[in-house]
Amino acid sequence: MHDEVIDSLKKEFIEKLNKIKDNPSLLALKGEFVGRKRGKINELFKQMGKIPAEKRKIFGQAINELKSFFEQELKQFERNLKIGSLSQKEEDWTLPGYKIDIGSKHLLLQVMDEVIDIFLKMGYHIEDGPEVETDYYNFTALNIPEEHPARDEHDTFYIDYEDRDNRYLLRTHTSPVQIRTMLKKKPPLKIIIPGKVFRKDEPDDTHSPVFHQLEGLVVGKKISMADLKGTLTTFLKALFKEDVQVRFRPSFFPFTEPSAEVDVMMNGEWLEILGCGMVDPAVFENVGIDSEEYTGFAFGLGIDRIAMVKYKARSLRLFYENDLRFLRQF
Ligand code: PHE
Repeated sequence: MHDEVIDSLKKEFIEKLNKIKDNPSLLALKGEFVGRKRGKINELFKQMGKIPAEKRKIFGQAINELKSFFEQELKQFERNLKIGSLSQKEEDWTLPGYKIDIGSKHLLLQVMDEVIDIFLKMGYHIEDGPEVETDYYNFTALNIPEEHPARDEHDTFYIDYEDRDNRYLLRTHTSPVQIRTMLKKKPPLKIIIPGKVFRKDEPDDTHSPVFHQLEGLVVGKKISMADLKGTLTTFLKALFKEDVQVRFRPSFFPFTEPSAEVDVMMNGEWLEILGCGMVDPAVFENVGIDSEEYTGFAFGLGIDRIAMVKYKARSLRLFYENDLRFLRQF
């Protein structure tokens, strides 16, 4: 009868020990079987008094043996846990792994990269500027004074914060970075400025309140309109591989003189994709560059519109709706 008690306890112990995976559960098992207070071994010792005297010695010996068996097993187990052999043994390397969703570059960024690549090959380098701009860099320094009608076309989102000298807004074009760069670096300059711009435009097939531009600026000696036209023609050929119809058209920007725009034929209509011109001498004066010595040209490309033409997307809104059925095609 007492042997049975001992045997079933041993069986129970081994079963439980085999399920142990970490230190806390090992500690709990220790407490349960060899704990000083309520350990099962101690409970057995407490029952000794109820056993007839002649059997007491044998029973006592059996309990002691069981106790040292438990202790040894526990010690061995603890050692295995420590050296990690247990956790390795328990790992099942044949289980299927986690599935990782692989994202891809958004179409607009793919087009932006492609455009950047063409200009890098032509020897331009990249400049960067803030999306939250001051009134000064976004307008005034670009020869667009307060009350100038050109500001109407560039209505934007004003930040609810002003300090003594500045009113803050979300930039309406990448042109302010022309100013920032010319204040920092001396000509000759040959730079591109990729970035996000913002306007208070109603969203429709060709407008979005957030869109992307790539600005270009070249400043040097004897830079002419012919350089501008040659550069943009080379760029457009590289980008569209000559399979679209393109036209240059005179235009107006306060910071370039003369100015032009480039349109591309899409679905029987001309779509404007860039503005450009020779840097206005007034802009050079604002940044302390001698306009008698230096000339330059600038351009601003609409990346979203270029993407529309290149990938024949009927609306630029598709780029912002995050519909995977559209995005997955690219
Ligand atoms: N900044 C102009 C716009 O966003 C584009 C432009 C850039 C025009 C550089 C001329 C020169 O409309």
